[in-house]
Amino acid sequence: MIVAIDGPAASGKGTIAKKLAEYFNLSYLDTGVLYRAVALQMLTKGMNEKDSQSAEKVARQVSIASIDHTGIRTRAVSDLASKIAAIPGVRQELLTRQRRFAQNPDPGKDGAVLDGRDIGTVVCPHADFKIFIIADLEIRAKRRWKELLQSDPTVIYCEVLEEMRSRDERDTNRKDAPLAVTLGALVIDTSNKSIDVSFNEAKNWILSRRF
Ligand code: DC
Repeated sequence: MIVAIDGPAASGKGTIAKKLAEYFNLSYLDTGVLYRAVALQMLTKGMNEKDSQSAEKVARQVSIASIDHTGIRTRAVSDLASKIAAIPGVRQELLTRQRRFAQNPDPGKDGAVLDGRDIGTVVCPHADFKIFIIADLEIRAKRRWKELLQSDPTVIYCEVLEEMRSRDERDTNRKDAPLAVTLGALVIDTSNKSIDVSFNEAKNWILSRRF
């Protein structure tokens, strides 16, 4: 069984996806990590964000199994990841890896759950279940701000809010595989719901349609 989960940053999609993976015994892939890995390498190598050829070259070398998660959650990486995600060649490179992951779950697993922006629309258009997670921008920005405060007490909420607004705009308005709700998806608004309530909604929806 394949579960596709999409939604904007800090909507709670990753947490819900991980819980679904555990409950239904599925392999889990956070596809944002692939874009972040490309962005981090570009930053480390001092590459220009507009240099799409270099971005594609870096994407070609990404291997899901060996991605180092150190340093991929910074604001600079988030920003660049969203920019290079608009380059069609980068998306094409990463698409093949994501599809391969979805089609080859780890031994002993009963399928895969992937979360991102274009899983239900492009990566796994034939997924058995598609879920779209949303939440108000301000609420998402506050969640991300609180996370960032743990490593940097000087982070300013308004800046995080503006960064998230720009990222939402880029991810939603790019030409290639924009963030969009797909037909038949369950939409869950986590703005005023606990993770457990949102997870149960997703889990019960899958269970009610599974057989
Ligand atoms: O999910 P995330 O915030 O870690 O993703 C970082 C960026 O990667 C996001 O702003 C856009 C891009 N991304 C994408 O374009 N498609 C995906 N399936 C996942 C992430």
